[in-house]
Amino acid sequence: ADEDCEARIVAAKAALGKRAVILGHHYQRADVYKHADLTGDSLKLSRLAASTAADYIVFCGVHFMAEVADILSRPEQISILPDLNAGCSMADMANLAKVERAWRELSEVFDPDEQVTPVTYINSAADLKAFCGEHGGIVCTSTNARKILEWSFAQQPKVLFFPDQHLGRWTGHKMGIPLEEMPVWDPDEPMGGLEVEQIRKAKILLWKGHCSVHQMFQASHILRYKSQYPDAIVISHPECNFDVCRLSDYVGSTEFIIKTIAEAPPGTRWLVGTELNLVNRIAEQFKPEGKIVQFMAPTVCMCSTMARIDPQHLAWTLENLVQGKVVNQITVPEEEAALARLALERMLQVS
Ligand code: 13P
Ligand code: SF4
Repeated sequence: ADEDCEARIVAAKAALGKRAVILGHHYQRADVYKHADLTGDSLKLSRLAASTAADYIVFCGVHFMAEVADILSRPEQISILPDLNAGCSMADMANLAKVERAWRELSEVFDPDEQVTPVTYINSAADLKAFCGEHGGIVCTSTNARKILEWSFAQQPKVLFFPDQHLGRWTGHKMGIPLEEMPVWDPDEPMGGLEVEQIRKAKILLWKGHCSVHQMFQASHILRYKSQYPDAIVISHPECNFDVCRLSDYVGSTEFIIKTIAEAPPGTRWLVGTELNLVNRIAEQFKPEGKIVQFMAPTVCMCSTMARIDPQHLAWTLENLVQGKVVNQITVPEEEAALARLALERMLQVS
């Protein structure tokens, strides 16, 4: 039963004490989130993983986050993902073979190492971060994307941005880059499906990837809500499509969304374009101040892979640790980790 699971988690946590730290992403389901010692967006969680003294970092998030924790923590620290099936569908949209092919194809037009900074969104596998480390590139999150792109353009005149086209496009747009200078690179087409002229003109080549959760939010949802409540304030995550971002009053990371609503005057009404668990949590949190927080889509948009981290898996993981057994450890091979660390540390320095 759920109560049993809850009691098991509480008991195992008490037995482990400071040896284990539970990190929870804002999208984590409520029955897991409440057990997290520390919570945050991807940037904050990667900093926390880099600075914790705990032996075990139990990551209630998705696979790439636990990889980042392994890469940034000390070698003897152990990073754990309570369910190994908790992946990120967006991260799966770019893989090393396809990125290397893109790099080779670009070299038919110019030398990419002399022209292009590869930038990977943190929502990507460790080998892609390593690719960026090796080719003078960098990692970004939704919090620091603009600073990272500014840094990237100080290195090279062009950027190859993967896997999220929406974050790349919105950030480029805010920096004043025209849309026609941000063409989409389709990894399943030769030369990304682009003409050589488009590639020459491009400032940012946007990988054809997206988040399956955030793609559900549509401009029509905003327009309908605004016609009913003209005073509503719209706030969205930059993984939403361009039209949604353009119609939003604010666009930013999960941490930004929470902070912005927290600091707003009482009685304000908000339409929020991001994952459902987070929106439900803040709707409850801010209700006493008379703030109305509404989810953007009429359908349920949950990060279903993150939701695989359930109380059962968390209890099982912690109880094994109490018995001195490590289950579901995430290990990035050292050679790959060293290059990925380079790209991540560039990011942490710039942001
Ligand atoms: P944040 O960095 O804003 O937490 O976003 C992470 C993520 O996966 C959003 O889908
Ligand atoms: Fe990945 Fe989207 Fe889930 Fe974020 S919400 S972890 S981008 S699938």
